[in-house]
Amino acid sequence: MCGIVGYTGNRQALPILLDGLRRLEYRGYDSAGFVLAQKGNGLLAEKCAGKITCLEKIIEGKEYPATHGIAHTRWATHGEPSVINAHPHFDSKHEIALVHNGIIENYRALKAYLQNQGHKFDTETDTEVLVHLVEEYYEGDLTEAVRIALSQVEGTYGIAVICSHSEDTIVAARQGSPLVVGQGDGENFVASDVSAILKHTNRAVYLREGEIATVTSKGFEITTREKIKCTPQIEKVSMTLDQIEKGGYPHFMLKEIHEQPITLGNTIRGRLNFEEGIPRLNGLNLQYDELRKIERIIITACGTSWHAALIGEYMIEEMARVPVEVEYASEFRYRSPIIDEQTLLFVISQSGETADTLAALREAKNAGTTVLGICNVVGSSIARETDGGVYTHAGPEIGVASTKAFTSQVMVLATIALLMGRMRQVSPVKGMELLNQLNAIPGQVETILKNEDGIKKIAEQYYQHNNFLYLGRGVNYPAALEGALKLKEISYIHAEGYPAAEMKHGPIALIDENMPVVVIALKDPVYDKVLSNIEEVKARHGNVIAIASEGDTDIADKVKHVIYVPNTYHLFTPLLSIIPLQLLAYYIAVLRGCDVDQPRNLAKSVTVE
Ligand code: AGP
Repeated sequence: MCGIVGYTGNRQALPILLDGLRRLEYRGYDSAGFVLAQKGNGLLAEKCAGKITCLEKIIEGKEYPATHGIAHTRWATHGEPSVINAHPHFDSKHEIALVHNGIIENYRALKAYLQNQGHKFDTETDTEVLVHLVEEYYEGDLTEAVRIALSQVEGTYGIAVICSHSEDTIVAARQGSPLVVGQGDGENFVASDVSAILKHTNRAVYLREGEIATVTSKGFEITTREKIKCTPQIEKVSMTLDQIEKGGYPHFMLKEIHEQPITLGNTIRGRLNFEEGIPRLNGLNLQYDELRKIERIIITACGTSWHAALIGEYMIEEMARVPVEVEYASEFRYRSPIIDEQTLLFVISQSGETADTLAALREAKNAGTTVLGICNVVGSSIARETDGGVYTHAGPEIGVASTKAFTSQVMVLATIALLMGRMRQVSPVKGMELLNQLNAIPGQVETILKNEDGIKKIAEQYYQHNNFLYLGRGVNYPAALEGALKLKEISYIHAEGYPAAEMKHGPIALIDENMPVVVIALKDPVYDKVLSNIEEVKARHGNVIAIASEGDTDIADKVKHVIYVPNTYHLFTPLLSIIPLQLLAYYIAVLRGCDVDQPRNLAKSVTVE
């Protein structure tokens, strides 16, 4: 999604702005631009359709001494990616410039009103109305003009505004789209994501909904839209620069796949009470007797997080015998869901900013339901608005295709399922055994990663195929969905995930010698059934790549390729079966020459509906 960076201080602003934009590239974008306030010489802007490299070409060999400016990467919603639609946008006199993340829902009405007032519009964007509104109310005080303008706006925004008359000031405001103010020494920053400014400062103030910041090189003041002064809470950012750099890997995705032994260890650190065979999840803010009373659970999420939710459904239902429903957040919010105070709702989100998930959370809270979050980004909107929850502690995930965040989500769900199971029917002894199995997972992931070359060789044989089928049963059916999603996201190959037995009700028609079929066939309660499904594929000359349990030598004779994973409790197997699928997708995408970390059309955090 879109990204914002702003700088005011005594250094040259442009290199800082462009470096910030580069660090936001992972969020996905299709055009970029910046504007600088040149002391006494108006605003100077450059924009381009395409990547930041195009901007760099435009500025090559030119001097940009300005020490104050804002920049933006745009992910098109209203109007195609083009120079004219790229941000910043300007008022009629080219004195005020604005960049915006989010969507202005009442922009048509505002535009009609402004056109009546004589404003001329150049772009197809919703954003342009904002800058004209600010112009309409500007009487020498930029913050005040922004405040009045925003009082007329419906929708979501994170904005940064500069004006040629207030050369040192950036006005930033947030409603539904994250924004952070970074504190430096004699300089200050604004960004939509702290990673954009981390190179310069680790002191940050996360703006809250409805807050407006007036940022100058000397300091900043934060007020609410109603003009109430706020005391800024300066937080020390725990993220480090190495976490958001590739560290020798060719892509963030590969780095993040390889980080999983560590990130999974971080997810469970301090959370497993081996003596009592029970996970410790204090963040849930629920006592044991409250957990026992839960009669129904809904889990809602999008994309990969939704796949984790489906795995959670299998785990919680089997271990705790509590009915679980999993809903796409985008559907949940618009279909009058039956929720009440006896229903516990979990929302899962890596970014904690996904618009649909956030809206589902608010819907459920309005209905009086307790909403718990499983989030990766600490302090994100979802983390803040939930009644409690569990952080996944996977660390910053930069690759657009989620890998380590997914396995950490599944790990958290496993601990929740076991905790609820221990409240109901799982004995302490069984609890201890399962905790030991969970504790062994990071090391087992490490073992799978050692077979990377074997997986790469399989990728070399199949990367030119245009279709893939992924099959799994039980708890590995969602793992098959996730494997297929990984492949389609980054390689643009059409890939479908199915419950293995469902294949014969339709998808079997697709199978011929050109169809690679990835089958998760582990030694679990449905193993024999999956073997029959493999036979059905082979009878139609499909090429089977099996993910099998270590020690299952028989399967090697039945399929073209086998990738082994270590044995664990059957409900925990997706934590292992997904690793080869991530690597397979990665190597296929690399061989096809795809932009693995920034796949076309995708955004890391989808903050619009
Ligand atoms: C994952 O590979 C995807 N890029 C995407 O499906 C993602 O999982 C989805 O947009 C939800 O994001 P969230 O977890 O940040 O809410």
